Amino acid sequence: MGNFNKLILFYTQGGITLAKELKGYTISKVSKSVASEPTVNILEDKKPLSQSMLWKLQKNFFDNQGPEAWIKGIVPQYITTNPYIANQYAKIVFGYCRDYISRGDTDKSTTIYIMELASGVGRFTYTFLKRFLHIIKNSSLKDLKFKYIVTDFSEKNIEYWQNHSFLKPYFESGILDCATFDIANDEKLKLRNSGETLDKGNLKASLILFANYTFDSLPQDTFYVNKGELYEGLISVTSKEEEVSSADKSILAGLDYYYTDSIIEGADYYEDKDFNDVLLYYKDRLADTSFSVPIMALRCISRLKKIFNDDIILISVDKGYKNEKAMLNNNHPFLSKHGCISMTVNFHAIEQYFKNLGGKAIHSIYEHENVNMALFLLGDNTHNFVETTMAYNEIIEGIGPDDFYILKRGIVPLGKSLETKQLLDFIRFTVWDSRTFQEFYDILLERIDTEENFPLEELIIVINKVWEYYFPIGEEGNLPYYIGSMLSYIGFNSDALRFFEYSYEFYGASAEIYYRLAFCSYNLGQMEKAQEYVEKSLELDSILEDSRKLKILIEDRFHSM
Ligand SMILES: C[S@@+](CC[C@H](N)C(=O)[O-])C[C@H]1O[C@@H](n2cnc3c(N)ncnc32)[C@H](O)[C@@H]1O
Repeated sequence: MGNFNKLILFYTQGGITLAKELKGYTISKVSKSVASEPTVNILEDKKPLSQSMLWKLQKNFFDNQGPEAWIKGIVPQYITTNPYIANQYAKIVFGYCRDYISRGDTDKSTTIYIMELASGVGRFTYTFLKRFLHIIKNSSLKDLKFKYIVTDFSEKNIEYWQNHSFLKPYFESGILDCATFDIANDEKLKLRNSGETLDKGNLKASLILFANYTFDSLPQDTFYVNKGELYEGLISVTSKEEEVSSADKSILAGLDYYYTDSIIEGADYYEDKDFNDVLLYYKDRLADTSFSVPIMALRCISRLKKIFNDDIILISVDKGYKNEKAMLNNNHPFLSKHGCISMTVNFHAIEQYFKNLGGKAIHSIYEHENVNMALFLLGDNTHNFVETTMAYNEIIEGIGPDDFYILKRGIVPLGKSLETKQLLDFIRFTVWDSRTFQEFYDILLERIDTEENFPLEELIIVINKVWEYYFPIGEEGNLPYYIGSMLSYIGFNSDALRFFEYSYEFYGASAEIYYRLAFCSYNLGQMEKAQEYVEKSLELDSILEDSRKLKILIEDRFHSM
């Protein structure tokens, strides 16, 4: 049978109701049958996983944290938001555009919608738009019309995008819009900027849907199958604490859980036959194993395909199973605890759903370590996505997002033994990834002075490109400060000043940043600005040696004028 937790031995059945628990997180104590075991509270007893209170905690977590979840590095994001992966998405979408233009069933003046689900802090949005617009605007397809809709259910995230100075030009040009979209419920999209509502019946347009690290954070169900019998895995959530704080940094902090299997009779477990077809497919195909159904993902796709009249493709990157082999000998899902909870996504189930509707799916060829990239295609039979498929195949036959991550992990530690040209080439290979640049920063800085014929011009190009594809959120690392310092060191004061201004915008005031601004202004002969900044620096730290010295130099310069 499935994955029973031994905790079940200690409890009597029944007792509390979910509604009562969720409201105030009140907890009923359950008497133990083993005297030496500590008291354990059942917070929730035997719920289908997708209906568990854990998802309510998850929602609270994202609502409370907003962008802070990424700024403070609580939620992982690098692998799904770096410029390398954004570039691969851009190439697939460009392949889609080539298919689109050759379709006989579309009016080419109609807008193509690109919708990103659960976008988080908006880093992927920005980087994708940078790469995609660069490609499409330099192609013969430049007249195609697009609208990119960045979505999430967290209001704090939406406010963040709307106020971010790097996204503003895209919002103002109309290529970018945003909407609240709760994947669990919403049936239409009300775009915040244009006021347009995308709803079934009022639209004849195509949708390209993106879902990165999305389905793994959404409610899923788990099942156990053996000898043609199907069981639902019901979750019970327990705690040794009296109370659970929904504001806790990790949702599962202090909580434990276990599963109980309950047999499913009949063929109508879900409300929709298409979902049941996916579930029942596994009943006779798998044995003595557990598998999950990403039910919220399926419901969301089902609602969106109604708005877009089945004209929809989905690109998704997540921890995911791509075939039945990956579902052999599995237990019920382990819920990993990195701030939010997440579980592996059954991409194979999403494939089955698309196939049953007449569509298809393509997955990575190679085994992945961290994330899988999958492409799902739906649409009528008048076209068969040749170009989209070709673009996708080129990526997965080469270095996909997972391979990129693994390769980079191997190369970065070798930095010191690489030639400067090789370091700069590798940064270019990463599509000017800021993290890689920062990892090589000290090596490059040191070599500027020590290496004969250091390729300074190439370094400047790399710096500008790194910044072009970087979406600042004020996270640890202060990239603009590092770039400013490097440029200042090589005497590019006006460029350095620009980066110190960015550092000020995204990291706020400090004695150090005012000193840097003052220093560059001084070197550029902007004495009044230099004086203003140096005073501000000393207001924050009256003994900062560099600022005190600079103040004397500025005063001398004023006297000699
Ligand atoms: C792990 S983050 C992924 C963010 C981003 N896609 C990335 O790759 O970094 C999960 C995101 O899902 C959002 N989310 C969770 N449940 C959601 C729901 N029901 N509807 C919409 N967004 C949801 C959260 O607010 C969060 O932004």
